[in-house]
Amino acid sequence: MTTTADYHEKIPNNVSLHEDRRLQRALESWQPNFLHWWQTMGPTLPTQDVYLRTAVNVGREGWAQFGHVAMPEYRWGIFLAERDPGRKVGFGEHEGEPVWDKVPGEYRAELQRLIVIQGDTEPASVEQQRNLGATAPSLYDLRNLFQVNVEEGRHLWAMVYLLHAYFGREGREEAEELLHRNSGSLDSPRILGAFNEETPDWLSFYMFTYFTDRDGKYQLGTLKESAFDPLSRTCEFMLKEEAHHMMVGTTGVDRVVQRTVEVMREHDTDDVAGLGAIPLPVVQKYLNFHYSVSLDLFGGETSTNVANYYTAGLKGRWLEDRRKDDHKLTSDAIMVDALTENAGGELAIGQTEVLALTGLNTDLRREYISDCQGGVKRWNRILEEGGVKQRLTLPHVAFNRKVGAFAGIEATPDGEKLSAGEWQRRQGEFLPTEVDKTYVRSLMRPVYDRGKIAAWIAPPRNGINGQPFDYDYVHLA
Ligand SMILES: [Fe+2]
Ligand SMILES: [Fe+2]
Repeated sequence: MTTTADYHEKIPNNVSLHEDRRLQRALESWQPNFLHWWQTMGPTLPTQDVYLRTAVNVGREGWAQFGHVAMPEYRWGIFLAERDPGRKVGFGEHEGEPVWDKVPGEYRAELQRLIVIQGDTEPASVEQQRNLGATAPSLYDLRNLFQVNVEEGRHLWAMVYLLHAYFGREGREEAEELLHRNSGSLDSPRILGAFNEETPDWLSFYMFTYFTDRDGKYQLGTLKESAFDPLSRTCEFMLKEEAHHMMVGTTGVDRVVQRTVEVMREHDTDDVAGLGAIPLPVVQKYLNFHYSVSLDLFGGETSTNVANYYTAGLKGRWLEDRRKDDHKLTSDAIMVDALTENAGGELAIGQTEVLALTGLNTDLRREYISDCQGGVKRWNRILEEGGVKQRLTLPHVAFNRKVGAFAGIEATPDGEKLSAGEWQRRQGEFLPTEVDKTYVRSLMRPVYDRGKIAAWIAPPRNGINGQPFDYDYVHLA
């Protein structure tokens, strides 16, 4: 196994694809379908070329190169992190055994399902973001959008490689289906809810890359622990690319907040709607929406499927090797969110104790939530330094949920239970209204001049790969 990619191949890879002609041919016949999908469902803004990072290596010495690339000619490749020949299963009933190079027959269906669900999210986000190029606030942002898009495309390749290489005819059929389902489609939608929502404006895009891409980071983190070594190595490398996607979200919201603070100070008012900035209550509502739909991606509070995945060694916990327990969890317990009955026999937002194994979704969601706090802290520092008193917060875990214990109730962002009628009446206080969305959309006018930026967002502190902000990141067609 080499770590350097073979770029003479039609499909750049570090998995010695040329040694397996059948697999190579199968992937080469999927390739035109992928390109057709990219042309019809990918970015709509015509460009000549874009300053993009391309993965070329998985080693520590640097794994990517930067250069202007015509997007349809981007070298989407297959890269697995280096193999650790001594790697052992880190948890579950196979703990301590050597990891698997092949798919064990008894876990085939489950592993295939996990890979398909992960694979389905990757092209979905490209579809959701396809029209954003038309309203980019700067060439820098436009470039970042396209970078995220081509890498999500590469993540699709990563999952399709596993399906082709290890799951036979069924795997190849699933790989086709990944191109046929489409975000928001009525007939064949993407598998998970958040990936069928629209990303109609750039505030949504930053919130999506902050909150929803971050779900991806946590899912990949659990799959990186898998006893199925090729899956583990694939996810390890994908996590490297994900870091940039989250940087786009984190600093994107930074810059929106920064600009809003500047306009608030300049005009000595909280009401910046008429002044071309995004009011903080609108930022909060967008945050509420994207955070709550992303919490749903972690599934129900308890799951026997996920318990079985863990015991079998298919999917671990976030940073499994740092957990100080027996890595089997057969006798541990965990408190999970639940609807409980209060003294008056009424349903209330509470918690209940379950076996740690069945509560693994909750464990992962909590890791995610504490990570999300980091962004809010950072945005609040910008508010504080700007001398404004308002603060952003993460809404309560029961707010606006469609999956899990709180799917059947409504609650405020503070975690106060609401009747259906009150929710109807008050949801516009918590979630973006048509008026909010229309206002945000009205700000979305493209700025394609080098070094220029839209008025609703501050410029970034740093450019990409040491280039200045006014670099020619994108050449439009
Ligand atoms: Fe991804
Ligand atoms: Fe991503």
